[in-house]
This record gives sequence, C-alpha cells and structure tokens, in this order.
Amino acid sequence: MSNPSTHEWWQRGTIYQIYPRSFKDSNGDGIGDLAGIMDSLWYLEWLGVDAIWISPIYPSPMADFGYDIANYTDIDPIFGTLADFDALVSAMHARNLKLILDFVPNHTSDQHPWFQESRGSRENPRRDWYIWRDPAPGGGPPTNWRSVFGGSAWELDPPTGQYYYHAFLKQQPDLNWRNPAVREVMFDVLRFWLDRGVDGFRVDVIWHLMKDSAFRDNPADPTFQHGQPTFHELLATYTTDLPEVHEIIAEMRRVIDAYENRVLIGEIYLPVERLIVYYGASGEGVHLPFNFQLIELPWQASVITEAIARYEALLPTYGWPNWVLGNHDKPRIASRVGVDQARNAAMLLLTLRGTPTLYYGDEIGMTNVPIPPERVQDPWERNEPGLGLGRDPSRTPFQWDSSRYAGFSTTEPWLPLAPDFESVNVQVQRDDPRSILTLYRQLLALRRKEPALSIGAYGGVPAPPDVIAYVRHHGDSRMLVVLNLSRKPASFDVKNLGSGCVLLSTYLDRSNEEIDTLTLRECEGVIARLS
Ligand code: GLC
Ligand code: CA
Repeated sequence: MSNPSTHEWWQRGTIYQIYPRSFKDSNGDGIGDLAGIMDSLWYLEWLGVDAIWISPIYPSPMADFGYDIANYTDIDPIFGTLADFDALVSAMHARNLKLILDFVPNHTSDQHPWFQESRGSRENPRRDWYIWRDPAPGGGPPTNWRSVFGGSAWELDPPTGQYYYHAFLKQQPDLNWRNPAVREVMFDVLRFWLDRGVDGFRVDVIWHLMKDSAFRDNPADPTFQHGQPTFHELLATYTTDLPEVHEIIAEMRRVIDAYENRVLIGEIYLPVERLIVYYGASGEGVHLPFNFQLIELPWQASVITEAIARYEALLPTYGWPNWVLGNHDKPRIASRVGVDQARNAAMLLLTLRGTPTLYYGDEIGMTNVPIPPERVQDPWERNEPGLGLGRDPSRTPFQWDSSRYAGFSTTEPWLPLAPDFESVNVQVQRDDPRSILTLYRQLLALRRKEPALSIGAYGGVPAPPDVIAYVRHHGDSRMLVVLNLSRKPASFDVKNLGSGCVLLSTYLDRSNEEIDTLTLRECEGVIARLS
C-alpha cells in the first residue's frame, strides 16, 4: 500500500538534534566530541531516529560556542579531526542514519582570516566581504540597528575609522552576501561537506542573510515590553526577512540539488505567513523552513489546534510541513509544559503531519538545569543578565546513567549536570516499560511502521475543551490522536468516526482496547486505530 519512493527520507524520517559539547565526552576533558557521538550510535539506532543534526563542530574561538566559525572546512580539535568526522559519516551511513551539519553563513568569527584581512585596511580586497560603514554624519553608529544579543549591532574599528555590522556578538561579524565572491566561497564550503557525504544542512539564521542596501533605520516596535531582550525595542524591518534573501536561498538550493537526496533546512523565527515564503515561490527555497510554533505558543488545546489548522491551510502544495519541540536556544519542553505534559508533547510531535525534530535529552524528560552565576557560559546571559535569556539551562550534559558524571564524562563537565540525573537517565529508563524514553521509542516505532502517521493526510476533528484531536489517514488506514492537555479527566466520543482500538497511551498501560468513547485520564494522550 505505501510506496516509500513517493517520499524522501527527510519527509518520512525524524531528526534528532545533538548539541555536541553536551552529548558524550570520549576523552575526559568534560566536553562532548565526535568520538563520543560515534560511541553513541547504538543508542540513536535503538531509539529509532533517522537523521542527526549536529550543532557546529568547526574550528572556533567559541565566543558563541561554535556559531562563530574561524574555518569552515575543518573540525575543531575539541571535537576531533576530519578523520574522526569521515569515520562518523561512514559509521552512520552503515546504520542507515543520515548526518545533517549546521551551516552558519550569516557571520564568521572575528578570528576568521577573512575578517582579519578585511579589517586590515579600507583597500583590502576582502574589505567588502563584510559590512563596513562610515560613522553617522554627527559621529556614532551608522544606523540604529541592534544586536540580537544586546546593544548596537555596529562595532567601531578605530584603525580604519569605520564600523562593522554584527547581528549577534561583536565577535561574529556579518558577511556581505551581496558580494558574489562571498557567495562563491560559501557555496564551495557546502560542496566540501557534500562531497564528504553529509546528507544536508541546517542553515543558521537564514532570514538574516540580507540587510537593507540603503541602510535605513529600523522603526520602533510599539509592542515592546520592559523585560524583553532589548533587541525587540525595534522591528527588524531593514535587517531581516528582506525579499532579496530568497535569491540567495535559491542559489544555495541549486548547490544542494546538484547532489542526490540532500536536505536544506532553514532556521527562521517569523510569523507563519512569512515563514512559508521560505519554501520559495515554486519550491526553490529550503526544503524545511523550521516551524517553531510548538516552542512559541502557549500550551493550550484551542491555540494549538487552531495553529495546526492555519499552518496546514497556508502551506503551499509543494511545501512539506515540519514541527520542532525544542532546541539549544530555548527552554526545555519538560520545563515549559511540565513533565506530565511533556508526554503529550512527544505524542503530538510524532503524530503531526510533517518532519519532527527532537532535541537531545527531551526523550528522557530532561528539564532546564539551574546554572550558578559562576558557571554561566552563554554570552547572551553575560550581555543581558537578569532577563532569563541564558541558554545554558537547556544545553547541559546528556544523562546516560547514574554514575558520577552521568556517564557523560569521567570528569566535571563544562556545564553542571542536572541535580536529578541519578533517576533521570537512559540506563534507568530504557528498561522501564512506563518511562518517557519508552514512550518516545514506541512512538518512533509506530510512526515508522504506519504510513498514516508519517506521510498520511491530516484532518482536525472537534474535541472538548482542553483536548486536541485529529485523524491521520493514508489509503484505508486511519489513526486517531486525542490529547488531554488538562489535569482533569476528559472523554471523547469516537462513534462518529467509526470504531477505535487503542494502540498507545502516554501512560503506556493500555493497548488493544476497543473503544466507543475514549476516557482520558489527566494529561493522557492516546493513539487509536479507526476502522
Ligand atoms: C542561531 C543559533 C544560536 C546562535 C545564533 C547566532 O540562532 O541557533 O545558537 O547563537 O544563531 O549564530
Ligand atoms: Ca571531549
């Protein structure tokens, strides 16, 4: 009935994000590395994911933990060597796992030789590789543009008397993507890794690539509220989401399409009606513009139901949907919605239509780890302390077992371990038939087995308050998903849809149960087969 060739691997499969510093340390320096990932492939295969996206592993001064790249075509010694990387690609492919790299085209490190040359003099051939401007007529920064991480986005370089633009840290100068030489060299970077066998890229802040060529000031954001990051005092009208960015993305896509079976994913934080433009006017954009609605929306059944319907309705016919529950920049799902609701979140993520991306550790229910001030690492927290912007709490070491350093390392890790790691870890949960890890594993297995769940159509169905309900169907196969987002029992009438047989509950204690009316306990989610 299902024909695998009708869909690409990145449409059927599930993506698992690894934050490499925190996954597994193989050499006892307290920082995760490529050999650690290599040693963990059994786990990823056992869990049942299809592709791994690894946050940046390139040589970097680590001002923004790898998102400041000093050499695009090598591996930072902290993580290993190119030989380790090649070995990882082969080992993953041997297990039928895909590897997606993080590509950071918007900015380099200020230590990158290109920037060192560029700042050398106004006449340097690489001057125009970055965005240099004279001071404003009365002195000071050329525009009012803000850095995402706080303060002006312009940094004065006294020897040449000009400012350079940095959307993020001043150690992350923005490349000038209007310069064709920059495009060429960056496309060669993509080819370098594609030739080494990588299966695709997650492109960092892709909606930032182009900035206004007239350098107009950004307008104030009337909705700004005290306590938000200062970046939000202004709208990013002239610094992000410019129409020209789509030409660049289409060029990038052509580079990818010269190779078989590769995927291009874009990191984009925009309202859905702007987000979907990144598929391209006729599908020449990214394959998957990351859809962060489950991260951003309040955990309310009516809000989420409405958002799913709207997203489904706005998607272009050629656009494949995707859903993300968490990443290295956001608080963990189990902390945002609570440990009980995190099970519903897992069921939602893995039964919606579209490619799911899950963040390492969410499958064992890791929560945000409080970071004592003296152990803060994230530069954003250091720049704008007290606003709760720090991203360290969701970047802590993966919890493998109950041993001294949670099986992550043999020494004190770079970020503190979660205080509850002795009970929340892979070793404890893998043999527990009711653990969240078991739930994730069963959900992934079911999604793999049932085309209705991976490639089937989506249809919302009416549900009582606090309940999300929908049907996925493919051919004759129909799957009903009902999620109770409240702390009270709920009931759902199945009769209008046919007769149901429970396949999986988030409580992991019921299956093969024929139902007319589905009674849900507090926070319970259920998948039932309809006939
Ligand atoms: C992206 C990354 C984030 C990084 C920023 C600057 O948003 O996910 O971690 O700090 O880009 O590169
Ligand atoms: Ca290490």
